Amino acid sequence: MTMTTAFDPQAFKLATRNQWEKAAEGWNDHTPQVRAWLRSATDAMLDMAGVKSRSHVLDVAAGAGDQTLDIAERVGPGGFVLATDLSPAILEFAKDNALRAGYGNVETQVADGESLGVDEASFDAAVCRLGLMFFPDPLQGLREMHRALKPGGGACTIVFSRPETNPCVAMLMSTALEHAGLPPRDPYQPGGLLSLGKPGLIDELFKRAGFKDVATTKMQAPFRLPSTGDYLRFIRSSASPIQQILGKLDAAALETAWAAMEERLKVFEAAEGWQGPNELLLTAARR
Ligand SMILES: C[S@@+](CC[C@H](N)C(=O)[O-])C[C@H]1O[C@@H](n2cnc3c(N)ncnc32)[C@H](O)[C@@H]1O
Repeated sequence: MTMTTAFDPQAFKLATRNQWEKAAEGWNDHTPQVRAWLRSATDAMLDMAGVKSRSHVLDVAAGAGDQTLDIAERVGPGGFVLATDLSPAILEFAKDNALRAGYGNVETQVADGESLGVDEASFDAAVCRLGLMFFPDPLQGLREMHRALKPGGGACTIVFSRPETNPCVAMLMSTALEHAGLPPRDPYQPGGLLSLGKPGLIDELFKRAGFKDVATTKMQAPFRLPSTGDYLRFIRSSASPIQQILGKLDAAALETAWAAMEERLKVFEAAEGWQGPNELLLTAARR
């Protein structure tokens, strides 16, 4: 039986922020793996949002800034990127990474994506890579991106598609819930990893936020790693939503839960290593 429990958006957001504060270092350490995983999707996202030389770009839920640096490179010294995120710790990595890479056109601002605090109509393009699904109110997040864009400015978001086409994510979620003694969850419950994968939902939200020319493209993004253990190490150190579920387990129960996840994920082992299927939704639109 799937249960929908009463949802407290403010408490959820606070828990999300705290978990990303803890997962910040792990996510940053896995930048090379995330970069390889999302390479084609990121290039497509920047094309679809119309990011080009001299653009002023808003990067929402920027994390450790991997895509921020791609934007900084594309817009060049005459352009500008504002990387925003709810978690100060992860955004600090974005700031350091930009400095270390020598990009003087990147600024960071700690901000909830549902209340960005940026000037109206001040950006040529806005993007959000694998962040919007964590917002308790993604419609409000899209309204904020819309408000920040100049008329005609382009937006593009990347979110996970349906549970059926993201079996590793679905498997991790169900195993974590089972071991935490929690009932199965509606995968489309607000704030969940797969919450925006419901067919048609993201287009509807973009339209309701005021965007025009809304179009969603599906993209396959298999996660390729040498072994199942490598994927589990990535999840253990940087997948905040899974940790959020397992938060109350003692050390022994936690190890049992991780071992069960690893066992189930072995189904994706192939001759060339481990390959987890992922289907992403890239939604492009204009203000
Ligand atoms: C999976 S990471 C993606 C980071 C980065 N965009 C990337 O693709 O590497 C999700 C990010 O969403 C951020 N986030 C979650 N809820 C948020 C909110 N309400 N407002 C802004 N950022 C949020 C987290 O702090 C985290 O950095």
